[in-house]
Amino acid sequence: MTGRRKSVHGEWSSRLAFILAATGSAVGLGNVWRFPYLTGESGGGAFVLIYLLCVAVIGVPVMMAEIMLGRRGRQSPVNTMRTLAQEEGRSPSWQYLGWMGMLAGFMILAYYSVVAGWTLAYVFRAGAGVFDSATADGVASIFSGFVSDPERLLAWHTIFMVMTTIVVSRGVKSGLEQAVTFLMPALFVLLVALVGYAMNTGEFNQALHYLFHPDFSKLTAKVVLDAMGQAFFSLSLGMGAIMIYGSYLSHTASIARTSIIVAGMDTLVALLAGLAIFPLVFAYHLQPQGGPGLIFKILPIAFGQMPYGAAFGAAFFVLLVFAAWTSSISLLEPIVTWLVENRGMNRVKASTLSGIGAWLLGIGALLSLNAWSNHKLLGKTFFGILEYLTADLMLPLGGLLIATFAVWRMSEESSRSELGLGSWSYALWRFLLRYITPIAIGLVFLNVTGLLTLFVH
Ligand code: PHE
Repeated sequence: MTGRRKSVHGEWSSRLAFILAATGSAVGLGNVWRFPYLTGESGGGAFVLIYLLCVAVIGVPVMMAEIMLGRRGRQSPVNTMRTLAQEEGRSPSWQYLGWMGMLAGFMILAYYSVVAGWTLAYVFRAGAGVFDSATADGVASIFSGFVSDPERLLAWHTIFMVMTTIVVSRGVKSGLEQAVTFLMPALFVLLVALVGYAMNTGEFNQALHYLFHPDFSKLTAKVVLDAMGQAFFSLSLGMGAIMIYGSYLSHTASIARTSIIVAGMDTLVALLAGLAIFPLVFAYHLQPQGGPGLIFKILPIAFGQMPYGAAFGAAFFVLLVFAAWTSSISLLEPIVTWLVENRGMNRVKASTLSGIGAWLLGIGALLSLNAWSNHKLLGKTFFGILEYLTADLMLPLGGLLIATFAVWRMSEESSRSELGLGSWSYALWRFLLRYITPIAIGLVFLNVTGLLTLFVH
């Protein structure tokens, strides 16, 4: 093996800094916006169960593999994969894994920024007391009025993309640590407070039943695919974000413990969001299938009723903006490091260019919510297609390839020394990634493409 590489982009100041940054990437709109909306569309408990299983059995081992590859390669995902493949005597084509990741990050950022823009807009709405004593219908029509206005969506999308680009251009390590140290715990506290509110005023038992009592008749191939995709999306896996953050991690940190902590916190935040939202859904006799607007149609009702709701609501959306911000910078980071390493650009130029690209694609996503809402492909709007291609297909495929490289293409000696695990835990990790991950992801893909039906009938 070669000597230990150092990243030209620097290193985290401590293991805690890495945990904070990785948690910052993982915890975001995926937990608070996407998890509840997919749960509602999929009918509750069965989706939640599959999601939790995917996080534990696929997510954590893949995260360990992704951090391990990143730390060993110490470059952008494309160059990391090229270097490691060369070192292990494998095909240079493994670098395309990095290319797919950059593309996925770019496509996710496009619609992510649109939704983050909604969150920004809601800081001001909540703060101005727009929701005071509003009815459920009133809140829903405020949301639909908002998304049907492309100019407003564009303004907020632009502001968020500029925010993201500025941080990335200054280097993700400055600022990120502080932001995550204070803001993540604050978001957590507000979510717990919201769960407390939902417990007192909402249909809490019904929500518990809905979330944790799997109704297996709701389990379709699509629900399983969505749950698996959501596990990858929420943990930021399969596109190089965690790989690049791993490349700044020091050699002494335990990859396994770190991954478990990050995945645990991410899952906790998602479950809290579910516990805050569904009691209110049932209390107001609303449909859980509210689609991507679900939290924007539910939470403001609570902010309109509770004492000091305007301040509380504004604070909540501010923290959600920060959570989205720390995720969006990790979506852009793989492309920017690649442009810096391979195209000799400075960070400012690299971030600006890639930010503009994602912004343009985002305009397509936001127009598909209004002006272009009738243009559909396979029943999906452009927004829906971007979501489906990235979360349901590209991220699990990226995760599968990362797993394959780590346990089938890399020598046991390399992965063992990089992970530094005890023999049992190493064997378990290797077994999960060698057999369970590919079989699970493979079956889900096959099932969805309908091939399995050939055998069943
Ligand atoms: N995990 C982030 C969230 O839950 C989204 C994300 C996906 C970030 C993939 C980076 C990579 O909001």
